[in-house]
Amino acid sequence: MSDGLFRSPFIHGLRTVIVSFPVHRSRRLRRTEALRSLVRETALRASSLIYPLFVCPGRGVQDEIASMPGNFRWSIDRLTEECKAVHDLGIPGVILFGIPESKDACGSGAYDPEGIIQRAVRALKQSVPDLMVICDVCLDEYTDHGHCGVLKNGEVDNDATIELLARTALTQAESGADMVAPSDMMDGRVARIRAALDERGYANLPILAYSAKYASAFYGPFREAADSSPRFGDRKSYQMDPANQREAMREIALDIEEGADIVMVKPALPCLDVLSLARQRFDVPLAAYQVSGEFSMIAAAAQRGWIDRQQIMTETLTAIKRAGADFILTYFAKEAARLLRC
Ligand code: PBG
Repeated sequence: MSDGLFRSPFIHGLRTVIVSFPVHRSRRLRRTEALRSLVRETALRASSLIYPLFVCPGRGVQDEIASMPGNFRWSIDRLTEECKAVHDLGIPGVILFGIPESKDACGSGAYDPEGIIQRAVRALKQSVPDLMVICDVCLDEYTDHGHCGVLKNGEVDNDATIELLARTALTQAESGADMVAPSDMMDGRVARIRAALDERGYANLPILAYSAKYASAFYGPFREAADSSPRFGDRKSYQMDPANQREAMREIALDIEEGADIVMVKPALPCLDVLSLARQRFDVPLAAYQVSGEFSMIAAAAQRGWIDRQQIMTETLTAIKRAGADFILTYFAKEAARLLRC
């Protein structure tokens, strides 16, 4: 091997000196855990995780979701206990999804002041006041047809729906929610919700907008959990085409213009490019949702012994942060927080 083989051609007489092997050895900083941790660029923290929870009617209910082992539908009394445990792990907040007593065409359970979520929020703010309670704002868990809005001539009616979403957010605010998170993908909903909140004295309540939410098959297990699959058709007329990246930037820009305080990309792992680009383009806080299907895939493969659950959990969450997410909504929140503590 000739002496000059590994010499950079730029080494003589140039200001930019790029020297390669054997001067550079990347492995030097990978030798020990102390070195690796010193130069680690991305850190996971319990304080940047949000735990999604499902609330159902009844008392004493802790009903495991078959496709999401370790996740449950909780009645309000059990939910408060669970949330104390979540808070004790250093997780700053939860996001709540409701399974109502009954569903109807206009999703009235979503904006009923005595609805499942509204009652759950009141109970939580009493029993675990320091835990941040985020409310998902959407109609799909509450409509009998399973779509995220009200229907007119067989289509989801955008402008009628955003009125109901504003009512939903307002009842959540009145119940004590710390943040509202519209996940419906209707046009103009952030502006409508912001106006409704401001008008009623909730100018300080932040909006976390599901801005770039794709029409994804990764939501499958969630729909089983919430019994919210559309009874006909699909969500492609309102959720985004997974083929589109530029459109995601436009959706995010529009939501920021309308008053979103935090924007979100969903799902997470299939959208790392979107997260990364959004991080570069926008200066508002950026969230990512590691959704049900992402969780279930890992849980199922780990159950079979095909992958290492803990390592894959850490690797995926780290990748999502590295791509640009400030915080992550994840069904792994408790497990990750427990791991990060030791
Ligand atoms: C709509 C909503 C959904 C999810 C969050 N909010 C379902 C959907 O759009 O079909 C999915 C979250 C997940 O899969 O974990 N209310």
